[in-house]
Amino acid sequence: MKILLGICGSIAAYKAPLLARELIKRGAQVRVVMTPSAAKFVQPLVLQNLTRHGVAVEMFDESTQNDGSWHIHLARWCDAMLIAPCSAATLGKIAHGISDTALTLVALALSPKTPLLVAPAMDTEMWIHPATQRNVEIVQRYNVTIIPPAEGELASGFQGVGRLPEIAVLADAVLVSFSQTPFQQESEQSLHGKTVLLTAGPTVERIDDVRFISNHSSGKMGYALAREAARRGAKVVLVSGPVTLAAPDGIERVSVESAQQMYEAVMARRGEADILILAAAVADFTPAAPHTGKIKKATLGTTMTLELTQTQDILASLGKLKQPHQTLIGFALEAAEHEENARKKLVAKNCDMIVLNAANTVDSGFGGDRNTITLLSAHGGTQVFPPMSKEECARKILDAATAGLYNLLA
Ligand code: CTP
Repeated sequence: MKILLGICGSIAAYKAPLLARELIKRGAQVRVVMTPSAAKFVQPLVLQNLTRHGVAVEMFDESTQNDGSWHIHLARWCDAMLIAPCSAATLGKIAHGISDTALTLVALALSPKTPLLVAPAMDTEMWIHPATQRNVEIVQRYNVTIIPPAEGELASGFQGVGRLPEIAVLADAVLVSFSQTPFQQESEQSLHGKTVLLTAGPTVERIDDVRFISNHSSGKMGYALAREAARRGAKVVLVSGPVTLAAPDGIERVSVESAQQMYEAVMARRGEADILILAAAVADFTPAAPHTGKIKKATLGTTMTLELTQTQDILASLGKLKQPHQTLIGFALEAAEHEENARKKLVAKNCDMIVLNAANTVDSGFGGDRNTITLLSAHGGTQVFPPMSKEECARKILDAATAGLYNLLA
């Protein structure tokens, strides 16, 4: 993965060396192009040392020239370009095709197939100015991905929107965009040779031969993931609780009822998996002593007490046994303090990513055809999505999982 990092003159430029280091840590080759104003905030030499490549600052610098057309070669070299921080001036130049710096020159020379991500960072007044917002709209029409600025304390001392997002958020965005390049979408085989193990649907916990404890999970999210993984060429094993959905073509469905059966089925197959996604709504408790036959009302009186014991946590068990080549993805359905609770689960269960559903929002959680997801990565990144069909959610989840697997897939 070859990333061209563009740096503009903004106080946030001091974070650029850390960003370059994070991208390198995640397996990327990084080259840097800076505007002359960026070089006032951070020395090109720092980035040259980190990336082990010369840094382009001036268009006509002898050392940049090589055999001429350096901007075309650099634009063709990269798989994605990230401009972070991007100043209001550079954003405006990109919007209007003004290539008067080394940075904007390369940005204009990118192939339409190469993702360009832009992370604007500036004071709130500059960010909300109609001219800046218009430039954002214009570049989005050219398929540029805007990574919106974060809110918080600004260099001016004021509070507001305009901060450069966290390093992990920027690095995650690059990896995800890379997994969505037209080339990978067209090939549709990004998971060829990989095995995806999924859980889906509810579990059913027996009280007696006719009664049970269960939940409203329809299995639609897990089944959409199974179909999308198969479409991308993966071998898919779907461990499913009782649902009314038909098994998708080309996947192996292992049907189970209880949390214990789901646990055993997953444990039996976990060794084969490269990506494990636990979308099932597993019962946390099960009757301690299920009754054979039917419990008669007359034997109970006016109240009934049911003793429940905790089930095995399948996701947490997988987290303990995770192999270095495996990517483990859990779901978290939260009714309050959503991100905080989901991140606690991510850490406690040793996941690489958690898909957060907020229980109390529209288009979220059980039953419907749409879902509202937030992806939290173990690297600390967060991606918030608007309500989408469960098919679209499945694509975003697998894009992110594939990005995490990049070193494996390369
Ligand atoms: N999970 C699991 N086995 C269980 C319970 C949950 O594998 N016995 C998995 C779910 O499939 C999901 C994740 O753990 O991927 C989180 O499930 P959730 O119900 O949100 O959280 P819990 O850990 O059960 O905690 P709580 O109910 O207290 O929020």
